[in-house]
Amino acid sequence: MTPIFETHCHYDDEAFDDDREQLLSGMAAAGISPLINVGASMESSRMSVDFANRFDSVYAAVGVHPSEVEGITESDLDELRNMALSDKRVVAIGEIGLDYHWPEPGRDLQKHWFTRQMELAREVHLPIIIHSRDGEKDTEDLMRAAHAEEIGGELHCYSYSPESARAFLDMGFYIGIGGAVTFKNSKKLRRVVEMLPMDRILLETDCPYMAPEPVRGTRNNSTNLHFVAAKIAEIKGVSAEEVIAATRENATRLFLKRA
Ligand code: NI
Repeated sequence: MTPIFETHCHYDDEAFDDDREQLLSGMAAAGISPLINVGASMESSRMSVDFANRFDSVYAAVGVHPSEVEGITESDLDELRNMALSDKRVVAIGEIGLDYHWPEPGRDLQKHWFTRQMELAREVHLPIIIHSRDGEKDTEDLMRAAHAEEIGGELHCYSYSPESARAFLDMGFYIGIGGAVTFKNSKKLRRVVEMLPMDRILLETDCPYMAPEPVRGTRNNSTNLHFVAAKIAEIKGVSAEEVIAATRENATRLFLKRA
């Protein structure tokens, strides 16, 4: 069996404090390799780089999540730049974006740091991992203004319509699909998977969150990606092995084989 390329996990989360080392060192044997541990704050970005240097199968993304941008400064951005430039195992800037689900931080602040981190990605020649929730139009507008089509990347944990997916695909972006696709109430996301070309889908857990059926509600980990691959296979009418192979090629093309 081809190993699954896990493109989005958060093993720095305190939910893994008791068994993180064990879990990460066992992933390859469990059929999951490589993994990208994605930063969401300055501290989790540092931890992601640390994991990437200690575990063969782990790569890092560094960036500040829209819900964590309060208090971020240009010197933090300098630190992210240093991480990206000095460490070959940093393969993306993320997760960055907009999250309008909560009133704080303010939208102008979120927009400012989304744009600044897209500019950073362009400067260091890395793709971006975008978190976008309840802010579709602003996300698309800011991406266009920053010429994101020249930067490249993915929309992680995609939650918008199939029609909107078209706009992101046209910019050359990939779409991350995780546990939500297995939920009973996720009709819209299943329609997204139906329309997505096989060469633009990425597998991701976003663990410890978003555990798929039949383990929904438990602490998620990357080995549950088998359930996600099986659901996508069912929707696309192909084998799970084909989904695993295609998403692996996609993730390799986007994150590991850039010029
Ligand atoms: Ni995430």
